[in-house]
Amino acid sequence: MAVAIVTGASTGIGLETAKGLAENNFDLILVSRSSQKLISIKNDLESQYRIKCDVFSYDLSLIESNIKFHEEVVKKFQQVDVLINNVGAIFMDKVITEEGLETTFALNHMSYFVLSNLFIESSNKIRVINVSSEAHRGVSLKLDDLQNNEGYNGWRAYQRSKLANIYLTYELAKKYSGTDSTINCLHPGLVNSDFANNNSLHYKIISSLIKYFGISTREGAMTSIYLASEESLVNKSGLYFDKCRPRKSSTISYNDEVGKYLWAYSIEIMNSYC
Ligand SMILES: NC(=O)c1ccc[n+]([C@@H]2O[C@H](COP(=O)([O-])OP(=O)(O)OC[C@H]3O[C@@H](n4cnc5c(N)ncnc54)[C@H](OP(=O)(O)O)[C@@H]3O)[C@@H](O)[C@H]2O)c1
Repeated sequence: MAVAIVTGASTGIGLETAKGLAENNFDLILVSRSSQKLISIKNDLESQYRIKCDVFSYDLSLIESNIKFHEEVVKKFQQVDVLINNVGAIFMDKVITEEGLETTFALNHMSYFVLSNLFIESSNKIRVINVSSEAHRGVSLKLDDLQNNEGYNGWRAYQRSKLANIYLTYELAKKYSGTDSTINCLHPGLVNSDFANNNSLHYKIISSLIKYFGISTREGAMTSIYLASEESLVNKSGLYFDKCRPRKSSTISYNDEVGKYLWAYSIEIMNSYC
């Protein structure tokens, strides 16, 4: 059976992605912070489908946790076939992780960066799927301030992290072209999930009103499930998908120099923990 990892799988798009992959007979590795929720999801999925589901509780905003998660998984699984980097959040107030990184950058970008690099290197062949967003349009990365230190704006930091997901996808696709591994990214749609509920009541109310017009989490998971399971995508890499179709990302997201700069900046952070 093929094995798929879904990060941020305890609720929202990640949970529905896990269910969709279980329907498609994938064994699952699910990770988020809340072990209680994950254990209950494991029990539900294993009783409903003929699959195995392993769950891991880690705070993926910490580089060390991403590295430990990878170590735990490779101890138990010889091969991982799909990695869905789905974890993500918006932080309206600036938060610094205990490792000293700005949290939007750490969770939404560095977790994708570290897990993609480690799992591609430890797998013979893997499909990496990065959950980005249409929110990436209309911004560029500030190369002298990749961790949003100056005049923090939560929405801007989020937009930039979703643009970083696209740069990472395109850089990885170039690096691993000619191998059996593929790397793609996607926009799930505007989805009525728990997204933004980690913020103050004021922002929760605003985001609930916006999300009210969104699609269901099941619909939001469709492109992730498609990218993980569709046979015909076996050689497709370095693409941005929306509603299960490739689509152009913003013009600036194709700038190789920016992609390379972000890569060099991120690998230095990662290597300081490896
Ligand atoms: N909702 C939308 O309209 C929308 C639109 C475009 C893109 N997206 C993207 O879709 C992805 C999923 O979003 P969603 O809407 O499903 O969000 P969500 O409902 O808030 O779910 C987020 C998931 O991430 C986990 N998580 C949050 N912080 C974590 C941490 N520090 N360490 C480990 N796990 C953590 C949460 O579980 P725990 O609390 O258990 O840790 C949860 O399982 C994100 O990357 C987001 O940027 C969403």
